[in-house]
Amino acid sequence: MMWKKSFLVFLFSLSIQNAVLDDDRTKKTDECPSPRLSSQTTVVTKGQNVSLICSIEKKSQTIMYYFYQGDKYLRTKDNGESNIFNLRISEARDLGPYKCKVQDSISSVYRCSKYSPDFNFTLLDPVATPVLNISVIQTEAGLYITLRCISPNGSLPINYTFFEKNAAISPAISKDVRQPAEFNFTKKSTQGDEEYRCEAKNRLLNNAKYSQYSPIPLTDGDGCALCLQLLPVGLLLVLKVIALIPACWILPKYKARKAMRDNVPEDYGHTPMEVGEYEK
Ligand SMILES: *[C@@H]1O[C@H](CO)[C@@H](O)[C@H](O)[C@H]1NC(C)=O
Ligand SMILES: *[C@@H]1O[C@H](CO)[C@@H](O)[C@H](O)[C@H]1NC(C)=O
Ligand SMILES: *[C@@H]1O[C@H](CO)[C@@H](O)[C@H](O)[C@H]1NC(C)=O
Ligand SMILES: *[C@@H]1O[C@H](CO)[C@@H](O)[C@H](O)[C@H]1NC(C)=O
Ligand SMILES: *[C@@H]1O[C@H](CO)[C@@H](O)[C@H](O)[C@H]1NC(C)=O
Ligand SMILES: *[C@@H]1O[C@H](CO)[C@@H](O)[C@H](O)[C@H]1NC(C)=O
Repeated sequence: MMWKKSFLVFLFSLSIQNAVLDDDRTKKTDECPSPRLSSQTTVVTKGQNVSLICSIEKKSQTIMYYFYQGDKYLRTKDNGESNIFNLRISEARDLGPYKCKVQDSISSVYRCSKYSPDFNFTLLDPVATPVLNISVIQTEAGLYITLRCISPNGSLPINYTFFEKNAAISPAISKDVRQPAEFNFTKKSTQGDEEYRCEAKNRLLNNAKYSQYSPIPLTDGDGCALCLQLLPVGLLLVLKVIALIPACWILPKYKARKAMRDNVPEDYGHTPMEVGEYEK
């Protein structure tokens, strides 16, 4: 008998508790919604201008927006009428935490004032102009090219992409340590006018940096890089030497004959001209 009664009482109290909880929940979602504080970007760098936007579902002309950093009220230009607050990130303490409040004395929905959840910015260093390093090894398959790219500064992770002229030739290579990104490829032949560069960027928006364009280097430590390209230069040298042989032969004979004809053993006036001819 006794246990039945207490069980019934227990059930009854449970249902009452649930009803109270349900009531609380409907009040929260329907009658007093919290605003949301956001920004175009959550990652910022020193000196950047950003806007905080306080948004709610149902807008009305009579709503007032209040912005706070911690518990400190930030006065807005337009005195709470705008849902946008502009600020400049000058130092670490400008990062947050921010929150906003909406209040409306007319609308029943926002009569109770509610705060948004906290919002923090994350401070990042922008990437510095990256440096591209190219090394080449001649293999049977062609030129084995290694591209290395590193940005000396900028918050990690940094994504690197390699370009030939303006076309990307590598995927984005993500580095979360400050070490060069590396990309290897083989080129069967070269026109000699290829130019490479790399891009470095991190999570900061619109802040990609590019290295200077670099051609394929002519010399490399080991292996015979670009032998094919050097061949024409070598041929030209050989041709020059061949062309010089007759000059070496003829010139002394011509000199001797001239000396005999002019009968002047030492003609300084003509010497520079002769030297000039010899060098041609
Ligand atoms: C940021 O805004 C200030 C004025 O509030 C302006 O002087 C400055 O040039 C702006 N900086 C950038 C990077 O837009
Ligand atoms: C915002 O930053 C403050 C101070 O750096 C920190 O205490 C707080 O937990 C952060 N809040 C959020 C939501 O990240
Ligand atoms: C390029 O890389 C090679 C090999 O790692 C290195 O010896 C050389 O110093 C680097 N050059 C530059 C300009 O970083
Ligand atoms: C790298 O960053 C530091 C501090 O952020 C700065 O002092 C330095 O000048 C930067 N160096 C380059 C090469 O950008
Ligand atoms: C690129 O080639 C170099 C030299 O052969 C090698 O040490 C390196 O591991 C290669 N890197 C990648 C990412 O394949
Ligand atoms: C970096 O690259 C990875 C894939 O490699 C990608 O998921 C990520 O979104 C990239 N980050 C940026 C800032 O571009």
